[in-house]
Amino acid sequence: MTNSYASVQETLRKTPRRWLITGVAGFIGSNLLETLLKLDQQVVGLDNFATGHQKNLDVVKSLVSAEQWARFAFIEGDITHLDTCQKAASGVDYVLHQAALGSVPRSLENPLRTNETNVTGFLNMLVASRDAKVRKFVYAASSSTYGDHPGLPKVEDRIGKPLSPYAVTKYVNELYADVFARSYGMASIGLRYFNVFGPRQDPNGAYAAVIPKWFYSLLNGETVFINGDGSTSRDFCYVANTVQANILAAVAEDPAAINQVYNVALGDRTTLNELFEHIRAMVAQRRANMDDVKPTYRDFRAGDVQHSQADIAKARTLLGYEPTHRVVEGLRLASDWYAGLSR
Ligand SMILES: NC(=O)c1ccc[n+]([C@@H]2O[C@H](COP(=O)([O-])OP(=O)(O)OC[C@H]3O[C@@H](n4cnc5c(N)ncnc54)[C@H](O)[C@@H]3O)[C@@H](O)[C@H]2O)c1
Repeated sequence: MTNSYASVQETLRKTPRRWLITGVAGFIGSNLLETLLKLDQQVVGLDNFATGHQKNLDVVKSLVSAEQWARFAFIEGDITHLDTCQKAASGVDYVLHQAALGSVPRSLENPLRTNETNVTGFLNMLVASRDAKVRKFVYAASSSTYGDHPGLPKVEDRIGKPLSPYAVTKYVNELYADVFARSYGMASIGLRYFNVFGPRQDPNGAYAAVIPKWFYSLLNGETVFINGDGSTSRDFCYVANTVQANILAAVAEDPAAINQVYNVALGDRTTLNELFEHIRAMVAQRRANMDDVKPTYRDFRAGDVQHSQADIAKARTLLGYEPTHRVVEGLRLASDWYAGLSR
């Protein structure tokens, strides 16, 4: 019997817990922080600002009460240092491990650096969490683990060969978490995120994700590039759904639900051409002369998969996960955020 998200939130409010969010200054980490502080939880955050920003923490501060913000302790540090992970995990009930170097192209350009953070850093966090005897270690896995498996929708136990160094690191995370469960009795849950988007996702830099990049480009009159012919599809997932999955995974007590990996997505597929149209139409409500704007098509990118769509039945059944935001609804909320950022 799973708990509904509403009842879990109610219980947490009544019995606050202590959480560690790694990668707290990043996109997903700062959204987790906002939700947990609004639920009156105690939160420790760890980040080295490799790709995250102090500004994200400042925004969260402005969205919660002074009392709630006082329950947050920030550690600036690197997960590749075991002692930093140990300090952060001390006395914590639940770990939400988000810190990693994302992006397939980044990992193709610098596989060593991606490996150091995503594998060595991950292992440090597992060891530190094991030693601190945390109740649950929830970590950001990735849909990239499906690699070249052609099946659609993606089901958790049917994976292919990884297509990038990034995908290898995320799969290694799952293998380590599984071995730590068998060897040390650790309780962990891996969440395979599928193209998460929403406020505070970074629109800048060579490795920016498609949704923030396109909002920012269109709002600022810059060209939007589509890799391939635009028929490539993804299961875009608004960040509130991802936050929900993390919280449900942390408190899950059903033995069948623990030491498992789950798809976290919407269970829908949107092509890049459809996505462009949605974003163009939303930007057109704020900017003149958007009607004729067209994307520029260029070559398909190495390491990318053509189609991606999740089967979310496992998370629904075992965690009680029920996405609250569809793609267009999420894009509207993201649109408000990017409009506030544009030049
Ligand atoms: N955004 C997505 O669509 C998506 C999809 C699949 C998986 N993920 C995973 O979700 C997690 C969060 O991704 P995000 O989109 O919020 O990215 P992000 O880059 O915004 O956040 C990652 C955070 O980790 C921090 N970090 C990186 N290296 C670190 C280190 N060595 N020590 C301490 N902190 C470090 C960064 O500074 C950043 O704040 C990552 O593990 C990523 O691989 C994201």
